[in-house]
Amino acid sequence: MPDLDAIVREIAAEMQDRTDRGEVASYIPELAGVDPQRFGLAVVGADGSVAAAGDCDVPFSIQSISKVFTLTLALGMVGDRLWRRVGREPSGNPFNSIVQLELERGIPRNPFINAGAIAVTDVILSGRTPRDALAEILRFMRFIADDETIFIDKSVAQSEKNTGFRNVALANFMRSFNVLDNPVDYILGTYFHHCAIAMSCRQLAQAGRYLAHGGKNPASGLSVVSAERARRINALMLTCGHYDGSGEFAFRVGLPGKSGVGGGILAVAPGQASIAVWSPGLDPTGNSHLGRMALEKLAKKMKWSIFGA
Ligand code: DON
Repeated sequence: MPDLDAIVREIAAEMQDRTDRGEVASYIPELAGVDPQRFGLAVVGADGSVAAAGDCDVPFSIQSISKVFTLTLALGMVGDRLWRRVGREPSGNPFNSIVQLELERGIPRNPFINAGAIAVTDVILSGRTPRDALAEILRFMRFIADDETIFIDKSVAQSEKNTGFRNVALANFMRSFNVLDNPVDYILGTYFHHCAIAMSCRQLAQAGRYLAHGGKNPASGLSVVSAERARRINALMLTCGHYDGSGEFAFRVGLPGKSGVGGGILAVAPGQASIAVWSPGLDPTGNSHLGRMALEKLAKKMKWSIFGA
């Protein structure tokens, strides 16, 4: 058996030394100041053991990784009716693209592009105030990570609210097709705040355990979703989790994964491990540059690619 602890430490040391770190996201001003030298990695195994290195305990902005969890919550609330509002196909476009929406009459391609995640947030908001919806999302995150210290970074949410003109456009455009039920400013306020959840790699890897283990937390045996639902969320992460970089991520890493512009990636080795990595510099598709490289090395060394060793 490969020595996971040693591999994680070795990858973190290598990544900390690299100079090709990508570009930190600057369209959300609050994220522009994050130190590009940061690197964290945490892996939670099936037996609950954790291998972690680098800045694995430093909270960062999970951004679009939150979309995995809001999708999980919305499916729990409305089940397969969700798919009337949002598709399940890769978009082949950037995360904030508007071009497909007009042709497809306001139905976003998948729940991970911004338009799709905004539609999912609308579902969670129905019958709730924005405050209650956010409390529900945060409660869920704390429950699955088994950690009451997880918080929303209000300054990141406010920073995105001040500059989120493109998301305002996407939401209004969808609303014009009657795809959204709630007031656009309520939906976006909730969306910006769930994107601004701050978590460390260790917390995020803990939160992802249900996806790696057939819908259950392997430590407590508690079921979060059915095995079928976990399998389907993983399928969406594989095909859509890195936007127009999803093919490259599958090609290089071979695991379901979801990225965020904060530089985090949550990846799932089914039956084996839940993995979180953080390096703030992004590649041109808006995905963590060294995060993907680290996962490629880890999956290769551990022979975890779902496509075979
Ligand atoms: O809506 C946005 O643009 C951000 N809150 C989230 C985008 C994001 O993380 C895309 N991921 N790589």
